[in-house]
Amino acid sequence: MGVGRILLNILVVLAAIAGGFYQLKLKPILVKFGQGRVIDPRGNTDCTTVPELKACEKLVLHQPSGVVYLACSTQESRPHWLPNAQRFNATGASRTDYVASYNPQSGKVTKLKTVNFNSPRGLSLHGMDVVASSSNPSELWVYLVNHREPLSGDPKVVGADSSVEVFKTTLGGSTMEYVRTVEDPLLLTPNDLTGTPDGKAFWVTNDYGVKTGLIRDLDLLGRATTSVVYCHETEGCKYAIQNMHGNNGIAQAPNGTFYVVNAIGGQLTVLEKQADNTLIITDVIESDRSMDNASIDSEGDVWVAGFPKALVLVYEHFANPTKVVSPSTAFRFSINTGPNSFYGQKFKVDRVCDRSSYTLSVACHRIT
Ligand SMILES: *[C@@H]1O[C@H](CO)[C@@H](O)[C@H](O)[C@H]1NC(C)=O
Ligand SMILES: *[C@@H]1O[C@H](CO)[C@@H](O)[C@H](O)[C@H]1NC(C)=O
Ligand SMILES: *[C@@H]1O[C@H](CO)[C@@H](O)[C@H](O)[C@H]1NC(C)=O
Repeated sequence: MGVGRILLNILVVLAAIAGGFYQLKLKPILVKFGQGRVIDPRGNTDCTTVPELKACEKLVLHQPSGVVYLACSTQESRPHWLPNAQRFNATGASRTDYVASYNPQSGKVTKLKTVNFNSPRGLSLHGMDVVASSSNPSELWVYLVNHREPLSGDPKVVGADSSVEVFKTTLGGSTMEYVRTVEDPLLLTPNDLTGTPDGKAFWVTNDYGVKTGLIRDLDLLGRATTSVVYCHETEGCKYAIQNMHGNNGIAQAPNGTFYVVNAIGGQLTVLEKQADNTLIITDVIESDRSMDNASIDSEGDVWVAGFPKALVLVYEHFANPTKVVSPSTAFRFSINTGPNSFYGQKFKVDRVCDRSSYTLSVACHRIT
């Protein structure tokens, strides 16, 4: 065979491999990321915009009072400093991120002032949990992921020096008192966390297996490098589970069932807590799109924020947060009690709310 012919053969084989790769691997991923998806708006007529509260990554509802706690930042700083998304311009970071409470009934917004928190690296917030204290239900533990600038080295190379900050507040109060900072080498790229009612322990997701570098992009193709880390005040930190894919939001039910969102693969993973506080997977529930964080309501249903257009979020909204909006979805996952539960459909996935234009924090509630 002539050289030309050999080259042609090689090209045909490569094209076939690339085509197969596209069909088998890449296409389903791009479809989950929203390629070709037409937004199907629903459940969004009863929405309220809260203009004071911007760039709030996490919301936690205090169910007995109906008050919502939010971990907020500024839209301007996010494209510069969000280490989980490889945004490492520490000069542009907001170090004065804050926790706010919002009462949907009265519309009152309270930005909680910190007490006794003196870190010069401040607060650059991400995931959060707010848990009523087991000893006094009007006292709340606030667990926060804080993406601190590293003390030395270029953040692009060494990554952020992320910590978890624990604060204490009172329901209805306007301050939160500093309790402790948790630092540990296992806190690689912490994203979201769920804390215990004694203020002593939490489980936090790492959304990548390493802090920086191109290798992280392989996770988009299904590489499973993410984890959940368990930390206790006196016992320190350890892995609760490793080698999961796309770990992001985390929530726990009172009975020890945990839910972890696979943001990349668009799945909700169900896990059971073991006696040693590690987690094992018991179920995986599929959805059709990328998702973010999860909350559990008083009925035990799990609410998850979804991205109908993840590519718009990552490549357009992120670069220009005040101009390009990113559409969002709210899913409800519940136990399927209908007849098809018999045939293996253990969970029901309802798309409760879909909006093409979320620019600000939006409270989207359904009257049932
Ligand atoms: C979930 O995450 C999205 C985007 O990261 C955020 O806008 C939303 O408020 C969060 N929701 C909850 C319930 O934490
Ligand atoms: C980093 O952030 C600062 C402050 O917002 C900004 O002036 C600067 O242009 C940013 N640098 C890059 C490379 O984006
Ligand atoms: C725990 O509660 C959830 C509802 O929040 C339920 O789906 C799950 O089956 C329960 N797990 C156990 C082990 O009872």
